[in-house]
Amino acid sequence: MGMQERISEIHEAMVKELLGANSTQNLEDIRVRLLGKKGELTALLRGMGQLSPEERPKAGQMINEARAKLTEMLEKKAEEIKAKERAEALERETIDVTQPAQLPQIGAAHPINMVMDELIECFTGMGFEVLEGPEVELDHYNFELMNIPKNHPARDAQDTFYVDDNIVLRTHTSPMQARAMLTRKPPIRVICPGRVYRADEVDATHSPVFHQMEGLVIDKDVNMADLRGTLNAFAEKLYGKGITTRFRPSFFPFTEPSTEVDLTCSSCHGKGCRICKGTGWIEVLGGGMVNPKVLEMCGIDSSIYSGFAFGIGLERITMLRYGISDMRLLYEGDVRFLSQFRK
Ligand code: PHE
Repeated sequence: MGMQERISEIHEAMVKELLGANSTQNLEDIRVRLLGKKGELTALLRGMGQLSPEERPKAGQMINEARAKLTEMLEKKAEEIKAKERAEALERETIDVTQPAQLPQIGAAHPINMVMDELIECFTGMGFEVLEGPEVELDHYNFELMNIPKNHPARDAQDTFYVDDNIVLRTHTSPMQARAMLTRKPPIRVICPGRVYRADEVDATHSPVFHQMEGLVIDKDVNMADLRGTLNAFAEKLYGKGITTRFRPSFFPFTEPSTEVDLTCSSCHGKGCRICKGTGWIEVLGGGMVNPKVLEMCGIDSSIYSGFAFGIGLERITMLRYGISDMRLLYEGDVRFLSQFRK
């Protein structure tokens, strides 16, 4: 077979293959055969030495022409295939924007923390500063400065976890009153949220670890009406209009006079129901005017300044707010319970 026939034969064969190509991989194979060292046209070029000098230029021209045409065709085909493959990919990877998204697993704030955050927001809104302090506390702050002397029943080892003779797990957040007064000058307005500890047996309404939030205001001319007004504002802000406070006389060594404070039952609005045991009131905090003895021990001149303090129990409020009937649920860390508070 002559050189010319050979060239047109290869040309035609490759055109056929190019027309039939339908993938990037197909094309790549063809490209290697067309331009690569082992390709048929390259082999022909190499074999030109055997041709007569007259035939050589003609054959060289033909090979180059064939190669140019095929290359052009190959590039066109490559674009076609690319477009086709892209269209197919788009088709395949269509996104259904109406399909609900798969949300990542996220945690939930603990109900105690949610209530704590609410209270903090409420009181900081009234100008209070948030102050936190140690849970492992000196006896001096937890008892002594709170006017609870050595032989006072509140110190009974049945209630208090002693670390040693001088160190306890704080039994209330009240030692923060002393810490606030000793580190600040009046006027003082602080709230002190945190964990407290008492040696109670665990049951539906008791836990050896629970939460309180202390409030303390020291200024000139602060009186019981200010305490009432502050707590009424807190009650209404948290539970809505119509929720107010009821003060009942009480006793704490660090306040004088002292009071237990009830809030209007938020579930029956004072009518009386199962939750408030028919009374219309729920006991949630203790408070009173800071005992002048405490002021003096904490370096505040009681002839110039007076103050009020209160301590809110967070568990009670949390359980009422979310209808939780057993306190143990708050501490067991069961995700079936906790995940219900995801917002
Ligand atoms: N510390 C008291 C308690 O734990 C509550 C309280 C705080 C009372 C501040 C009066 C003033 O019961």
